[in-house]
Amino acid sequence: MKFFVDTADTKEIADLAATGLLDGVTTNPTLIHKSGRKFLEVVEEICSIVPGPVSAEVVALDHEEMMREAAILRKIADNVAIKVPLTVDGLKTCKKLSDEGVMVNVTLCFSANQALLAAKAGATFISPFVGRHDDIGFDGMQLIADIRQIYDNYDFGTEILVASVRHPIHVLESAKIGADVMTAPPAVIRSLFKHPLTDKGIEGFLADWAKTGQSIG
Ligand code: E4P
Repeated sequence: MKFFVDTADTKEIADLAATGLLDGVTTNPTLIHKSGRKFLEVVEEICSIVPGPVSAEVVALDHEEMMREAAILRKIADNVAIKVPLTVDGLKTCKKLSDEGVMVNVTLCFSANQALLAAKAGATFISPFVGRHDDIGFDGMQLIADIRQIYDNYDFGTEILVASVRHPIHVLESAKIGADVMTAPPAVIRSLFKHPLTDKGIEGFLADWAKTGQSIG
């Protein structure tokens, strides 16, 4: 499963990229607002840090304007994935862009039927939002399982990008179901490295090593 980070904080992105485990980045207008930076500049910087797909979202609601915004975003770098909302105009834009060989991430997906439409429109990624789905009393992970089944039934190449990930269990369940990608805030990704028994084990080994009076070199 690929790991994308869901942030526009370039320091966090650079730190996580240094682990060699980061495959891409997702942003959205809220994250750009939080960064306090200019949209095009921040996307350009992210694309220079991470060679994998970097999602940049259009804000227009009609197809023509989405295409105009996408043309601007596409010029930033080859690894920009155009993010469009799951609407009629968004999918129209998705179809046009994917026919032109552009990576498209269809966002704000909350049903398996929406995911089916996005795959038919040639989306590179479909982003079902599990956390927001859970928030309103639905089972976000069941949505991922349903989409996996449908995509496998018809051999769709669209990658399932689990979004709105809030905690490590979302990551674990995504991997068990066979999602292609998950995008999570930096804190969730960092939490995956941690286990109290790992820390305790290191502490014990180092204490005993000190008693040997040796050094490796
Ligand atoms: C994904 O591309 C979205 O930016 C993101 O995962 C939304 O997450 P949220 O529901 O925590 O805002």
